[in-house]
Amino acid sequence: MRFHVLTIFPAMFDGPLSESIIARAVERGLVEIHLHDIREYATDRHRSVDDYPYGGGYGMVMKPEPIFDAVRSVKSGADLADDTPITLLTPQGTPLTQRIVEQMATNEDIILICGRYEGVDGRVAENLATCEISVGDYVLSGGELAAMIVIDAVTRLIPGAVGSIESTQDDTFSTGLLQFPQYTRPALHEGSEVPEVLLSGNHAEIERWRRRESLRRTALRRPDLLESADLSVEEWEFVEALCEEQD
Ligand code: ADE
Repeated sequence: MRFHVLTIFPAMFDGPLSESIIARAVERGLVEIHLHDIREYATDRHRSVDDYPYGGGYGMVMKPEPIFDAVRSVKSGADLADDTPITLLTPQGTPLTQRIVEQMATNEDIILICGRYEGVDGRVAENLATCEISVGDYVLSGGELAAMIVIDAVTRLIPGAVGSIESTQDDTFSTGLLQFPQYTRPALHEGSEVPEVLLSGNHAEIERWRRRESLRRTALRRPDLLESADLSVEEWEFVEALCEEQD
């Protein structure tokens, strides 16, 4: 899988992409991350990538031409399919979810456009990007960190990137629920014990306990997720009992 990232701050990617799972996935040839400096596509002598907003107001807006030219150049240079997804990272986008990440991981190539300053000329979203993604209801100083979040979340789903594919199947959100709590040695830490069932070696009991803890956490912290989760009648009863306890 190849990520083609358009940014005016390519150096921001150096640290995060050179560590841990992403670095390993790159080393193993599972992913390629190509960084393209939008400024190289600026045509005026100041190499400007932004300009004042029409209609007035504060701040600067990223110009459309360098972004359109960069996408055209990347598409022809890397021989990308016409329908390669082009994602604009922006706080106005669709909130990123694990479902969207899973869908993204099915692509061979993804173009990520990092916006900066107070915004990006509207024609980039209207006529170039195929989708707009936000990584949360808060405003970052640019799309670079958001693009790194996308790259990280997608890369760990690529077979071979994470130790075992099963370890991503238990993830929070993959099951539609928050993940159960995890523990490691020591069994007793500063007076606090690991739940006994986890030491029992009884795998069926452990699975049952984990599922209930997932349900408990989700019901208490993110009840909104329960609506689309796949629960048995018994599990719904368990959740309802928990909610009544809370009231
Ligand atoms: N750029 C600035 N804030 C952002 C956000 N929350 N998500 C994606 N891109 C952004």
